[in-house]
Amino acid sequence: MDWGMKNRLSKIIKPDNGKALMLAVDHGYFLGPTSGLEDAEKTIAPLLPYTDSLMLTRGILRTSVCPEDAANVPIVLRVSGGNSVLDEDLSNEDITVGIKDAIKLNIAAMALSIYVGSGYQHKTLVNLAKLIDLGEEYGIPVLAVTAVGKNMARDERYLSLSCRIAAELGAHIVKTYYCDHFDQVVKKCPIPIVIAGGKKIEELAALELTYKAIHDGAVGVDMGRNIFQADSPVAMIQAVRTIVHEGNSVKKAYALYHSLKKEKKT
Ligand code: 5RP
Repeated sequence: MDWGMKNRLSKIIKPDNGKALMLAVDHGYFLGPTSGLEDAEKTIAPLLPYTDSLMLTRGILRTSVCPEDAANVPIVLRVSGGNSVLDEDLSNEDITVGIKDAIKLNIAAMALSIYVGSGYQHKTLVNLAKLIDLGEEYGIPVLAVTAVGKNMARDERYLSLSCRIAAELGAHIVKTYYCDHFDQVVKKCPIPIVIAGGKKIEELAALELTYKAIHDGAVGVDMGRNIFQADSPVAMIQAVRTIVHEGNSVKKAYALYHSLKKEKKT
C-alpha cells in the first residue's frame, strides 16, 4: 500500500486502537429526505465533533457541511447511486461521482454498494472493481457496502459471501450488518469490517449491537439511523463512541447516554 492509501485509511480506522466510528448520513441518495435528515446541516453539525469520519454524498457535503467545521473530519464519499426507493430493484446502481470531483472534495475514501444475489449483482460487482482500480491509482481506499437484496437473508452465510467477494475484488474496508455467528463473517474476511446499524431500534439494543459486533471482531461501526434518529443523537454518538474506542460495557454506555441526554435537556 502506498503512503497516501495508508494515510487515508488511518484517518478512518484509527491507528492507536484499530477502531473506527463512522457517521453515515448518505441515505438520501436513494431515500430522499429520510426522517432525521430533513435538514442535513442541522443534523450533522452537532455530531461532527464526535465522529472519526463522515459518510455522505457530494451533494450534502457541498450544501450542508461547513468545510471549516469539517477540517478534521475525514470524508467517506458515497459514489454509487442512480436509483431510488421507488424502484422495485434497488440493485440497479452505477458509479455516480467522477474521480476528479472526488479528489477535489479532499476525501479520505469512497463508498459503493454491492448487491450480491440481486438483479444487478454483476454490474455492482464490476463497478466495485472499477472503483478499486481508480482508488488504487490515486491512493484512495474503497469501502464496499454489502447491501442486502430484497429476498436475501441477513445471515452469516449471505454476509460472509458478500464480504468475501468484496475483499476478493480488492476493497479496503467492507461495511455489512451484524448477524448471528458474526465472528465467522470476520474470520472469513481478510479486510476490516464495520457494521451498519440498520433500521432504528431502541438505543439500548443499538448499543448492544455495537458491543457484540466489536466483541466479534468488527473494527467499528458505520452507523446512521440509530444515531441521527435517536432521541438524543449527540448523546447516542458519544455512547457508541465509548464502546468502540474505550471498550466500555453496554451498561456504562447506556448510563452515559442517559446522563448526556438529561444534561442536554437542562
Ligand atoms: C444507506 C447506507 C448507510 O450508509 C448504511 O446503511 C449505514 O446507515 P444505517 O446505520 O442507518 O444502516 O449505506 O444505504
